[in-house]
Amino acid sequence: MQNVRVDNLLKRFGDVTAVAGVSFDVPKGELLTLLGPSGCGKTTTLNMIAGFEDPDGGDVYVGDRLISSSLEKVLLPPHERNLGMVFQSYGLWPHLKVSENVAFGLQMRKENKNQISAAVEKALDLVRLTGLGDRYPSQLSGGQQQRVAFARALVYEPDVLLLDEPLSNLDAALREEMRLELKDLQTKTGITTIFVTHDQVEAMVMSDTIIVMNNGHIEQMGPPHEVYQNPANQFVAGFVGISNLLSAEVLGVARSDGLTPMKLGGATIFCDAVGAKKGQKVTLSVRPEDLVMISQKPKKNDPNILQCTIEKSVYMGGMLELWADAYGQQIRIHGHRLPPFSEDETVFMKIDPVSVKVIN
Ligand SMILES: Nc1ncnc2c1ncn2[C@@H]1O[C@H](COP(=O)(O)OP(=O)(O)OP(=O)(O)O)[C@@H](O)[C@H]1O
Ligand SMILES: [Mg+2]
Repeated sequence: MQNVRVDNLLKRFGDVTAVAGVSFDVPKGELLTLLGPSGCGKTTTLNMIAGFEDPDGGDVYVGDRLISSSLEKVLLPPHERNLGMVFQSYGLWPHLKVSENVAFGLQMRKENKNQISAAVEKALDLVRLTGLGDRYPSQLSGGQQQRVAFARALVYEPDVLLLDEPLSNLDAALREEMRLELKDLQTKTGITTIFVTHDQVEAMVMSDTIIVMNNGHIEQMGPPHEVYQNPANQFVAGFVGISNLLSAEVLGVARSDGLTPMKLGGATIFCDAVGAKKGQKVTLSVRPEDLVMISQKPKKNDPNILQCTIEKSVYMGGMLELWADAYGQQIRIHGHRLPPFSEDETVFMKIDPVSVKVIN
């Protein structure tokens, strides 16, 4: 069952179309991520769901409740939507204690004192800040402050949690830790969540579904492995992880095993290419980690092997990154157990047909 439905949401700022008719459903209890480069419309989408920005078109439902509709002239104010929100800047009040920061929303709703303190304690336990309610925000670390912001959003048991880059103020190590913690928290509470980030690793780790946005529209929507392994187009292939985008030409019809031969410089690459026509120019996407070095020189007609000339070899601790030339096209290769290479060295790289994607 869907818990949030966004239907054809539209927002213009003057000449800029910030969100160009975006639609998606978030099933109950799932975490959906809006992923995309700066300015692609992530925050604007989230703000329209939260009620901080008036849409120029489209509807938003939470459960069966229509909370925003341009056509039906429905526009509930933020506090009537029962959504919890956490931003990049924690927005804690420095003059209020942690417990008072967390209690603030409930006090505004005029709930009774005992209920409020029980709810605050429960929320602080949930984010592992038990016993720190009497401190002031300035007496907490960055990660702890961010947890207060989560507690404040969770305390009134919202129907949906909206998170706009909540981890991007944290340093790299803490960010990695909080990512897992936040995912645990989300799973444990079962709260439907929409998460905004431009960090693709964060999106991979946290999400049930990723929406890749660009210029106000959706480029692809799917579970993390699908977005990574089957990028819908060049934009997604380039934005989510690193991809080699290689020009090739269809050599003929598919073999009995369904694989179609492609000419890539001096190599023949077999891959899945439904509907490809002989002579058609195509772009192949290959991930750097899917190129595997073979030690012997291949026979002349061995398919799926690229002859590469090393241009640059970069040692990155757990991984070696190679930049190489393959028939006039530059490719990147990642390997864990590769020996060091010298410039102009020739290597042979094998690609499994399942690792080659034909994309638009
Ligand atoms: N209040 C505003 N007035 C005018 N233009 C705006 C306003 N808010 C956003 N925009 C424009 O709308 C587009 C989308 O902005 P938005 O903030 O949604 O991007 P974003 O994906 O959240 O980016 P970032 O990753 O940098 O936070 C941008 O081109 C931005 O300049
Ligand atoms: Mg933003």
